[in-house]
Amino acid sequence: MSCSATACAKVILFGEHAVVYGRPAVALPLPGLRARAEYLPGTSPLSLDAPEIGVTSPLAALSAGHPLRETLRIVCERLGLEVRKGTLRITSGIPVASGLGSGAAVTTAIVRALASAHGIDLAPAQVSAIVFEAEAVYHGTPSGIDNSVIALERPILFIRGTPPQPLDLGAPFDLTIADSGVRSETRVAVGAVRDAWQRDTPTFERLFDEMGACASQSLRALAQGDLAQVGVLMNRNQDVLERLGVSTAGLERIAHAARHAGALGAKLTGAGMGGNIIALGEPHLAAAIRAACEAAGARWVRTTTVQP
Ligand code: PMV
Repeated sequence: MSCSATACAKVILFGEHAVVYGRPAVALPLPGLRARAEYLPGTSPLSLDAPEIGVTSPLAALSAGHPLRETLRIVCERLGLEVRKGTLRITSGIPVASGLGSGAAVTTAIVRALASAHGIDLAPAQVSAIVFEAEAVYHGTPSGIDNSVIALERPILFIRGTPPQPLDLGAPFDLTIADSGVRSETRVAVGAVRDAWQRDTPTFERLFDEMGACASQSLRALAQGDLAQVGVLMNRNQDVLERLGVSTAGLERIAHAARHAGALGAKLTGAGMGGNIIALGEPHLAAAIRAACEAAGARWVRTTTVQP
């Protein structure tokens, strides 16, 4: 029997990079933006059908270190499966390498689809742990925030090495997500921050503290639905990301345009050096914020409502 499963994208609202160094961070799922995996049993050797990333071939034809091959190896090992035959079809509406958790979402969908095809029941924490292992192969030192928020599909407070804490939001809010169109590998941005931290540890520790404080202070504002305060903290978080060196002129142009159009706050999200910004705005301003982002060079813009 064929089995399919999906997984959502995510954004980091506060604390990217600092979370790698033990500071708290806040992440939100994007349930409307998803990756999907479908396993179809068959008699031919296992093949992959992932048109969006240009992979349509038998698994055995992929090079040894190919990300999808490695991912499947880890997933099957952890699930105790030998999947030798059939087709694994992967589709995704999540832009790749742009801070929205595309890789973790694809891996989560694969874990869920293969587990369900083989009658294995997994708790979100088990899914999360398997995805974390696969992420570690590509990102070196992932904090675990992406796999956690995607597996739980709930807003979370995340502190590295501890279980994610689901967050209650006091009110729904609109986030506009705008893609600078520049692809950026998490591994590269995380490596650049690590190099800079090694060169000047005291300065970077202070920056991480500042960002951690944004995340901590946001909890009350989020619980009370105080969006003006959430916006102020987002702008402060963006300011620290600029000082960390992971922002770009393109991202800043789009974030400034969003603020100019009335956004309460705007910042890059995820690893930076490209990828997306997020802007918090009142629903009646969403169209104006989207238009401003597009005029500032964004290639892909959408507004999503984050539900409590
Ligand atoms: O993969 P991205 O772009 O969502 O970045 C993940 C967030 C980082 O803090 C930069 C890395 C991590 O592992 O937490």
